Amino acid sequence: MSAHKDQNRGSFSSKFAVIAATAGSAVGLGNIWRFPYLAGENGGGAFLLVYLLCVVIMGIPVMTSEFVIGRAAQRNAYGAFKKLQPKNHRWHYVGVLGIAAAFMILAFYTTVAGWTLEYFFQSVTGNLFKPDGDYATVFNEFSSGSVRPVIWFLVFMGLTGFVIVSGVENGIEKYSKILMPLLFVLLIVLAIRSVTFDGAGEGLKFLFKPDMSKISGYVFLKALGQAFFSLSIGMGTLITYGSYIKKEDNLATSAAWITLVDTMIAIIAGIAIFPALFAFGGSPSSGPGLVFAVLPEIFEQMPLGSVFAALFFILLSIAALTSTISILEVVVAYLVEELKMSRVRATLLAMISASMLGLLAALSFGPLSGFTVGGQNIFGMLDYVTSNIMLPIGGLCVVIFVGWVLKPSVRIRELTNNGKLGSRFYPVYIYIVRFVAPVAIALVLLYSLGFFI
Ligand code: TRP
Repeated sequence: MSAHKDQNRGSFSSKFAVIAATAGSAVGLGNIWRFPYLAGENGGGAFLLVYLLCVVIMGIPVMTSEFVIGRAAQRNAYGAFKKLQPKNHRWHYVGVLGIAAAFMILAFYTTVAGWTLEYFFQSVTGNLFKPDGDYATVFNEFSSGSVRPVIWFLVFMGLTGFVIVSGVENGIEKYSKILMPLLFVLLIVLAIRSVTFDGAGEGLKFLFKPDMSKISGYVFLKALGQAFFSLSIGMGTLITYGSYIKKEDNLATSAAWITLVDTMIAIIAGIAIFPALFAFGGSPSSGPGLVFAVLPEIFEQMPLGSVFAALFFILLSIAALTSTISILEVVVAYLVEELKMSRVRATLLAMISASMLGLLAALSFGPLSGFTVGGQNIFGMLDYVTSNIMLPIGGLCVVIFVGWVLKPSVRIRELTNNGKLGSRFYPVYIYIVRFVAPVAIALVLLYSLGFFI
């Protein structure tokens, strides 16, 4: 029996379903937690500008290319490269790299998702607001503990595994079609409250007025990593999603829409955080705790603040859940489709091994905080190595594969839906995929490996 079920592979029911599911993977902590803290550390407006550049010249082409590979092959990332590559090539190692990255991302991502559960819990039990609240200290005390961060980590990992094993993914997707717009609305409410604080203008200036002198190779490195991370690309996730896209859907415009939504959410998160931060006199470069230090302060200054806070943190947890599902699924799909494991065993195996690594991440701010390499704790190392090295390498391989290795007839078929769509943009796409994106990603990668310093 073949390990693949090509004949009865389902497909997303509509163009909207593709965008909704991929957006579910893309929108998550990357937008609301990671984007603001990186922008804060790397020059605000300068970071945003470089980020937008990376999204357009590397993000959209890589996403489109992952869709092309997935829809052409109808398989998970590993199997897709195996099926499409010329004899004796070894592109499926990109799939292996993606599986390794999935484990590592799951480890630190679930840690942060656990933090959102703690903040939800604190909001519901009425303990979020502190009388003379120094919320940065509150966060540091919580995250440096050795019990609560671990418990919430395990709860979240368990939830992710449960969703995958019990097959309620479709149910979750149905709900998230309602819940994610709600999160979006709440973010806008937060952004409005934030810009109406006295002194908020400084924060807006910080985010939207780029100080060109802040742009550096390092900022490019961080912005590129963030673009890959936020768009869920470079790991093969969207190859698998691409395999479920209907033949009639337009891959390039779908990628562009998802990217637009994802980027807008990150920017709105920035508008919610920075004006409030500057109004309260906090520091933008306080690292991964940034949003957890700023958000409670905003909620405190809102009518019905704890209700809004509870709602926000639970919705953020759900956004994180639709992302962790897509990450764990990369590992599970490989174990099931290629190693023919049962779904339950595959999920358990993936969860337990990711948890071992994840516990180290969850303890990185407390008992294991002394364990650092180059000033980074274990959490920071997992984040750095995946976002800034592994995902860009994956993305580089994807564009080179589609641009230079994949049969041109397959590429054209997927991009033009067999000639039904106009091919006006095809030359532009192919030029970017062959030259611009690979060169740009390669330059940033060389920088991260210590060249040009
Ligand atoms: N993009 C998600 C976020 O922004 C995280 C994520 C989900 C991801 N799947 C991924 C990141 C695959 C990289 C690769 O929260």
